[in-house]
Amino acid sequence: MKTVYLDYASTTPVDPQVVASMLPFFSQKFGNPSSFHHKGMEAKNAVDDARSRIASLLGCSPHELFFTSGGTESINFALKGIAFAHKQKGNHIITSTLEHHAVLDTCAYLEKQGFTVTYVPVDAQGRVNPKDVERAITPKTILISIMYANNEIGTIEPISEIGTLAQKQGIYFHSDACQAAGALDLDVRKLHVDLLTINGSKIYGPKGIGLLYARKGIALEPLLHGGGQERGMRSGTENVPYIVGFAKAFELAQSHRDQENKRLTKLRDALISGLLKIDKTRLNGPKSNRLPNNVNISFLDIEGEAMLLYLNEKGICASTGSACASQSLETSHVLRAIGMPYEASHGSLRFSLGKYTTFADIKKVLAVMPSIVKTLRELSPVRLTIKHFQ
Ligand SMILES: Cc1ncc(COP(=O)(O)O)c(C=O)c1O
Repeated sequence: MKTVYLDYASTTPVDPQVVASMLPFFSQKFGNPSSFHHKGMEAKNAVDDARSRIASLLGCSPHELFFTSGGTESINFALKGIAFAHKQKGNHIITSTLEHHAVLDTCAYLEKQGFTVTYVPVDAQGRVNPKDVERAITPKTILISIMYANNEIGTIEPISEIGTLAQKQGIYFHSDACQAAGALDLDVRKLHVDLLTINGSKIYGPKGIGLLYARKGIALEPLLHGGGQERGMRSGTENVPYIVGFAKAFELAQSHRDQENKRLTKLRDALISGLLKIDKTRLNGPKSNRLPNNVNISFLDIEGEAMLLYLNEKGICASTGSACASQSLETSHVLRAIGMPYEASHGSLRFSLGKYTTFADIKKVLAVMPSIVKTLRELSPVRLTIKHFQ
């Protein structure tokens, strides 16, 4: 049975060109960039070259980039790094209720360290209102962190508007762009961000690599201390093959962006309209101004996990998008943030499309979903009626 993989927001396969770019750095070109000999120089040159190529795509200087182990580390570095370096100036941070747990849990940690955090609400489509951010600012605010695009429901946030207002008030602005890196413009000057997080695993690069852009001159407290790599800001021997692969993946993603966005938008909209033909369904997130690869639909009266099992039986990989906290009955904080009633928030599915998705894949999902939903609804003891659900 052919696999229909529709979980690209969770992770992407590594592009063969990316693998090819990485391979020499596992064996022949294995040097440590800190070594003073030709093997070390070879590795150092590769890291410098990767950094410069990424910098030119982000519109920044190579010295403003720090390689990390992924999105989570970059976010921790940005939030704790600013908080601890600027605590004399203030102890207030602003973020949104829609953020990834890497941001929310870091904020919760910082609250325990004496910082206060305001979580601005989002509207029914998951959009942060810049005015709410502005209203939340106090003389003690040192950092605003708002994601560029949401991983569950695909909402694209008004980053440059928020960045502009943060800049006017002299407050640092970080954006988690992990889900945006393959689809949106990441020019840091246009976005008015001071700090930006991206990772490799969502853009057909390797897992376990990411970076933090931090505007020149911003003081940050390092997370890791040791050998002084990354200009003393992130110690630890550089992951040379992954850094090389990350740069290649980012270049490929950005160069095919417009063309790929058009193709994915058509597939996305076909999937959305087909799924909404099923009774008692609802699209989560906005109709337009959403990531071109994101489809998130709620199906009333069924559990998302049960649908995933049935889809898996048919060779289809999707996600509940809810990252249900382990075995608990906790539902997605994102769906709660957009005001979805608790009873309805169990039955959501996220299909995230990618470069190997075809119309045949979409047709297959649309062919199997009505009967999966029918079967599960027949088994379900629940019959919800929610006003204006659709
Ligand atoms: C929006 C967002 N932020 C942060 C992360 C964490 O990235 P990583 O898994 O590379 O640590 C992810 C990954 O799922 C994500 O989607």
